[in-house]
Amino acid sequence: MQRGAAAWWAGGALLAGAAAGAGILYYAHEVEPLDIQLERLTIRLPRAAGRLPAQGLRILHLSDSHFHGDGRDPREHAKIERVRALTAGLSYDLLVHTGDFIHYDDGVENVLRLLDAVPRPRLGAYGVLGNHDYTHYAMQEALPRMWRTFQAAERAADQRRSGLMRLLAAATRWPRYVRYVRNTPLDGRRTGRNDSGALNAALEGWGMTMLHNRATHLQRPEIGLDIFLAGVDDVVEGRPRLGDSLRDVPEAAPVILLSHNPDIIVSPQLPRVDLVLSGHTHGGQIRLPLWGVAHTQAEHLPRRHVAGYFCVGATQVYITRGLGEGIPLRFRAGPQITLIELA
Ligand SMILES: [Fe+2]
Repeated sequence: MQRGAAAWWAGGALLAGAAAGAGILYYAHEVEPLDIQLERLTIRLPRAAGRLPAQGLRILHLSDSHFHGDGRDPREHAKIERVRALTAGLSYDLLVHTGDFIHYDDGVENVLRLLDAVPRPRLGAYGVLGNHDYTHYAMQEALPRMWRTFQAAERAADQRRSGLMRLLAAATRWPRYVRYVRNTPLDGRRTGRNDSGALNAALEGWGMTMLHNRATHLQRPEIGLDIFLAGVDDVVEGRPRLGDSLRDVPEAAPVILLSHNPDIIVSPQLPRVDLVLSGHTHGGQIRLPLWGVAHTQAEHLPRRHVAGYFCVGATQVYITRGLGEGIPLRFRAGPQITLIELA
């Protein structure tokens, strides 16, 4: 009788666990990725004192739309409609998109639909490309690939280890592999190139100015605006040249930098930048109790700064969780767009 009751309890617990797991999976796939939020943020730029309009400068920051087109059209249209509703009637100055516009070439149409869905900015739209705008990857192969890389490094290290140290290394291999995965960008195999030239042309055709390792002078004397906006190419798949981005910016002039990948924060030229706007991390995309964010996809970004506002010296940095995702799951790291008010 007692054994029977225990079996009932065990079965019930198993069923409840499975139901909870299925519920979480449903939420992470069907609910959270579509629940885009509009975040509002005010940032002071000390070096821009007297060079911003009296009422401030409003930037609508989009990033990481990751549009696939075709297979994911209904989800992507739902996201576009959500952004349309969130931004309806919004009056602002600059629209910026910090890359990963597309996941595959077929996503370009939806990118243009997204840009059409937000009210036109008063002073212009600017963008930089991200790694996915250049390349697509087999992310499902990342963990086995990383295991092979890790094992190769272990074998090399074993050559230098004494017998006892080799035993110790073998005993701690799994936890050290887990730590390696946690702190290393997921290494999906490159499966092909996207047509970044065609994307660039489509965006320019729409009216977005692409800041490919260059800066533009935002100068409107009639409203008291006199700052620089720069962009740098993607750190992983592009040819980032921050020196070129900043070459035409006069010394002491305030400059905002668009960089898809926040790893740009380790550049020696960073102190020259007042504010970096980035994406790429998706806020970790999945945030689990105890483990924290699943990944940052960045090499030099502290895990606690996977999204949001922080400072590196005198340089201010804001990382958006972005709009989209490759693997269509988000958990406690929901998609967002951000209205930044510069004062
Ligand atoms: Fe991305």
